[in-house]
Amino acid sequence: MTKDCNKRPETMERITTPALAEAFIAQQVEALRQQIGDRKVLLALSGGVDSSVVAALLIKAVGKQLTCVHVNHGLLRKGEPEQVIRVFRDEMNANLVYVDATDRFLDKLAGVADPEQKRKIIGAEFIRVFEEEARKLEGIECLAQGTIYPDILESDGVKAHHNVGGLPEDLQFELVEPVKLLFKDEVRVVGKALGLPDSMVLRQPFPGPGLGVRCTGAITRDRLEALRESDAILREEFEKNGLAGKVWQYFTIVPDFRTTGVRDGKRCWDWPVVIRAVNTKDAMTATVEDIPFSLLCHITDRILSEVKGVNRVLYDLSPKPCATIEWE
Ligand code: XMP
Repeated sequence: MTKDCNKRPETMERITTPALAEAFIAQQVEALRQQIGDRKVLLALSGGVDSSVVAALLIKAVGKQLTCVHVNHGLLRKGEPEQVIRVFRDEMNANLVYVDATDRFLDKLAGVADPEQKRKIIGAEFIRVFEEEARKLEGIECLAQGTIYPDILESDGVKAHHNVGGLPEDLQFELVEPVKLLFKDEVRVVGKALGLPDSMVLRQPFPGPGLGVRCTGAITRDRLEALRESDAILREEFEKNGLAGKVWQYFTIVPDFRTTGVRDGKRCWDWPVVIRAVNTKDAMTATVEDIPFSLLCHITDRILSEVKGVNRVLYDLSPKPCATIEWE
């Protein structure tokens, strides 16, 4: 790959309409067929916008020559692995290998409280699981990646959060990166034109280490469950109340401490849930969304009555800086 093909031509029109997206798709399908020929391609499909769009493009271009591997590291949001399976295996008829590696990841993470250590474990284990799956498949020569233009501009072409560039020597494949010259908003327009559901195309950013950075300190299964359930309630309420398309990123955090509460006339010793909802252009700075107080109260009521092990709900009012968006 030369540096030149990693540079967006100044004449390249911004993809803002369905017609422009269709033209891009037609041109990329042709280019992908040329590049791949009759070879087999492998893709780590996280279910995020970029890898989903790459999968849909490749399915259109080379169909069953593509194998998608979806690794569930146990730190995905509620319903995410099911959606990947439904959209790609059931609706698009793709070759999809689904690996439920939850126990492997959670066992490796048990007792690890340091945030950077947690990230390293999740990243390294992801590569290990992906490598094992790649070795089971015969005759793969190409590796597709959802690299987008900001990845090239910001990190020298390396997709920081789900790059599988750490594969060993004997598993070095030819890279296939059909959206590497596109900005995020263009990837979304292309995804929509490819028929991907809005919930995938308009998905808010989700960090590679997933819920792992929101279940602070050493992750436990019960606290992770409280995190997943409270996050699902927040997402459902934001969707119902017209905030899902308006707020840039929103999620819950379950910190690793307990506070006293009272339930059914008895004292309890449970976790708090923190709600975070921020707006930003580039994630370098962020402001806090002004959620209507009545909605905050409603979400609080639902979390307190539906989520096990929680007795308190807080709203994080801190902008970035000096707080970061994530808690770890
Ligand atoms: P912070 O917390 O640094 O987050 O204000 C800025 C944006 O980056 C996302 N983020 C990550 N994404 N791997 C990722 O892929 C990570 O380790 C990671 N940490 C933070 C965060 O969700 C926000 O959108």
